[in-house]
Amino acid sequence: MPRPILATIHSAALSHNLARVRASAPDARVWAVVKADAYGHGIERAFDGLRGADGFALLDLDEARRVRALDWRGPILLLEGCFELRDLELCSRLGLWHTVHCDEQISMLATHKTQLPHRVFLKMNSGMNRLGFAPERYRAAWTRLNALPQVDEISLMTHFSDADGPKGIAAQLQAFEAVTHDLPGERTLSNSAATLRHGAAVGEKSDWIRPGIAVYGSSPDYPEKSAADWGLHPTMTLSSRIIGVQQLAVGDTVGYGSSFTADGPLRLGVVACGYADGYPRHCTSGTPVLVNGQRVRMVGRVSMDMITVDLTPVPDAGMNSEVTLWGRSASGAMLAIDEIAQAAGTVAYELMCAVAPRVPFAID
Ligand SMILES: Cc1ncc(COP(=O)(O)O)c(C=O)c1O
Repeated sequence: MPRPILATIHSAALSHNLARVRASAPDARVWAVVKADAYGHGIERAFDGLRGADGFALLDLDEARRVRALDWRGPILLLEGCFELRDLELCSRLGLWHTVHCDEQISMLATHKTQLPHRVFLKMNSGMNRLGFAPERYRAAWTRLNALPQVDEISLMTHFSDADGPKGIAAQLQAFEAVTHDLPGERTLSNSAATLRHGAAVGEKSDWIRPGIAVYGSSPDYPEKSAADWGLHPTMTLSSRIIGVQQLAVGDTVGYGSSFTADGPLRLGVVACGYADGYPRHCTSGTPVLVNGQRVRMVGRVSMDMITVDLTPVPDAGMNSEVTLWGRSASGAMLAIDEIAQAAGTVAYELMCAVAPRVPFAID
């Protein structure tokens, strides 16, 4: 029998979340962002749930090939564009649209031999200071691109740094609009947080939205709002089982470093899941876990292959009982991945992407 840990991808939840995000920008088309192997879900596993998208946005050419191999004939956008000339050849061959964020990419495009001119997304650095042309250089880049026979259509793009927080998007939106207001072409501005939180400000200015995390059922502004508050459903469940039970007496300690000491009799469940499965080692005693759909607390340190939980609140639990590390239990009880990410001092993006290769996946 295999070790009982399992990651389950919920196709219906992916479709539901996609529809939920779309409802916040009803006039825009939706790029489902599937970079990082669909945020750890697996492009092939997530595809069915996401086929209602208008396009797929990603980074790796190999991932673009995989989406085409799924028979997707619609738009695919490379969010970081091309890294070398060979990539442009693949864009021509696979019909990929690509971001242009720097002069070097324009120069590369100018030397590219292609029968079919490319659709490109010219990215402005409106304040994030990662990729893109500074506002004062944007129009010159547009003019240079527009003169290339290799370019068919130029769309306009930026990315918000603070759509999830108090700083908001106003300054970046203003910088973008000041420079682009009279340029032709479609616009794509919003990630999940901008779409859900700033739909009114940005919705009518967007031809395409680019949601990622919300599609995967995590709240873009947790803990201000939970996934449930946004009407999002978990798309990944990490589950396992109890593989050992210990009866502790007062004063007994648990695990490496004896970081937890029982202050009374305690029935301890040992769960087949550890940091080598992608469960975050930074989670400390008190992190919630579901056993038979009921909330209990993790106690002691996360080790490579196991965690330990206090079974006191679930007297009927024992060997083989169902454990939900995040997601949805068999009975329908939910444990938001955002809660576990917060307990580990990180974000749900990282947890989703970090499920280890040794964990088997299923689709429901
Ligand atoms: C350019 C770009 N657009 C959209 C997204 C999707 O963002 P989110 O997952 O926060 O919705 C990302 C993700 O980091 C991104 O880099």
